[in-house]
Amino acid sequence: MATQLSTPETAASSDAIRHPLEPLTAEEIAAAVALIRASGRLGARTRFASITLHEPSKERVLHYQPGDPIAREAFIVILDNDANAVFEIVVSITGGDILSWCHIPGVQPHIMYDEFVECEVACKADPAFRAALAKRGVTNMDLVMVEPWSAGEYGDAEERGVRLTRALMFVRAEPNDNGYARPVEGLVAVVDLNAMRIVRLEDASVVPLPPEAGNYAAEYIPAMRTDRKPIAITQPEGTSFSVDGHAVTWQKWHFRIGFTPREGLVLHTIGYEDGGRIRPVIYRAALSEMVVPYGDPSPSHNRKNAFDVGEYGIGLMANALELGCDCLGEIRYFDAFLNDSRGEVVRYPNAVCMHEEDTGILWKHYDWRTNHTEVRRARRLVVSFIATVGNYEYGFYWYLYQDGAIGYEVKLTGIINTGALPPGETRKYGTMVAPQLYAPNHQHFFNVRLDMMVDGPTNSVYEVHTVAEPPGPENPHGNAFFAESTLLKTEQEARQLVDPLNARYWKIVNPSVRNGLGQPVAYKLAPGENTRSFVAADSFVRQRAGFMGNHLWVTPYDPAEQYAAGDYPNQHPGGAGLPAYTAANRSIENSDLVVWYTMGHHHLPRPEDWPVMPASTISFMLKPLGFFDRNPTLDVPPEMAHGACCHE
Ligand code: CO
Repeated sequence: MATQLSTPETAASSDAIRHPLEPLTAEEIAAAVALIRASGRLGARTRFASITLHEPSKERVLHYQPGDPIAREAFIVILDNDANAVFEIVVSITGGDILSWCHIPGVQPHIMYDEFVECEVACKADPAFRAALAKRGVTNMDLVMVEPWSAGEYGDAEERGVRLTRALMFVRAEPNDNGYARPVEGLVAVVDLNAMRIVRLEDASVVPLPPEAGNYAAEYIPAMRTDRKPIAITQPEGTSFSVDGHAVTWQKWHFRIGFTPREGLVLHTIGYEDGGRIRPVIYRAALSEMVVPYGDPSPSHNRKNAFDVGEYGIGLMANALELGCDCLGEIRYFDAFLNDSRGEVVRYPNAVCMHEEDTGILWKHYDWRTNHTEVRRARRLVVSFIATVGNYEYGFYWYLYQDGAIGYEVKLTGIINTGALPPGETRKYGTMVAPQLYAPNHQHFFNVRLDMMVDGPTNSVYEVHTVAEPPGPENPHGNAFFAESTLLKTEQEARQLVDPLNARYWKIVNPSVRNGLGQPVAYKLAPGENTRSFVAADSFVRQRAGFMGNHLWVTPYDPAEQYAAGDYPNQHPGGAGLPAYTAANRSIENSDLVVWYTMGHHHLPRPEDWPVMPASTISFMLKPLGFFDRNPTLDVPPEMAHGACCHE
């Protein structure tokens, strides 16, 4: 995982910053913290929740010319543990000033990694906690894993305003053992993270620990398969991309890489070069929120619904990616510089991986009359990071394709969350994966915020579905069907669900730019796998994760609207984010707009998901739709001399 630095290793001063969207350097983070400390306004027990580049305005970024002076600002969220108070601070790093310092009442920032560690220590030191585990035959605290799940908000007045976590426990059989094989069912430690002590032990029932180990590490596997020969990906002349700071060009794509503690990977100013100019497609793209509601009503599981972006900070949980394992081929890595809760700079080596992949054929045709074949190989540029959130791993992948398409894919792996059952019992709300061990049903909803700028800043969004023409004089054989487009004029019209049986997609159109055929240029948002939420409409989790209620949301651009479940989802009572943003039903027609896409992965666990889950994927695509006049990849050269790979 991350390494903490006492002195930043690869710091660059702001003088070396060559673009306003370069992520904060280690030195800049340290400078921002120093400014805040020097103010004398910090309480004795204050945590730095996040330190992020305070992004300059769109105007500034889009009009930036190399050599222009760059004002660097940081946006910092701090939590005063003694006062249970949250402050948002903006500092000018280049100016050496604090620009604003605002108390934000009634909110809780994400749970910080340091709090995970301290919470585990505090629980293990608590006599009642030890007694509850002893009752279950667990006495060696070194083997107990305490997992602080976010507490949510369940209308309990006593809990309101207290910084809480609901810790679940697992027990390892030995130090390297997979502890998720032995959940401590029926026991929840409710911990006040400001006071760092247990305020309530919920002890519903004593269920024996499941008997079998669930180990997957190589050291536990007695015989590995021996029939696998090496696959080597080589690029003898190097990669086809070039990198300047965090600016990337590859084939005709131009974009910038960013990384924030909350969102992880961010792509900025994505454009495609066409006819000698870069045509913009997206201004900013990032995962804005996710939520994993569990579908089991039993005491240990009925409040499990992690918002892994807003409640934990998915970027803070980024892995250090390793060559040949997480990514294959010629890799370009990017480190991330984030912070711990003490305000120290933390370097995440190789947090982001970028590489090219061969993806089969781009296009092909064989003319049987001339016996001539034209075929092109496709490749894509992959920019990714992987985060470990307790038991689960999420890999987040942006794909840029040669034909102007953009893909986004999440890979879900790691270890499913588990529960224990008495011998002989099964569970309606989950799947048995080992003796006395089950995995509760759950879903994973991801919301991706796409600040679109298809060929310019003002766009409109249309819903498109396909209609079967009724048989009649115009359709004598009943074979006709056609696409019907409807302009989505307001935010509420743009609250939409997927509709695969009617082939629904949405298109983001620039009404003021026409292609060579006279059509307005556009990109289509093509949904992939998706589903609906199964929680009750008036349930607490549904109120808090309102973004699950629709797959498409569109808002007019407002830099204050960044997160699908609002700025502070941790312990939030609900209604924030997209439901609140869209409540005023603003116009979204021919304007600077933001598209928010929610996709739900339905996870009814399989026995094969245990003890470690083969990666499952969920994705969507953005494809050019009349953005070009024709297939833009005719200029992709054949791999070898004309036809040689097809005519033996
Ligand atoms: Co799952």
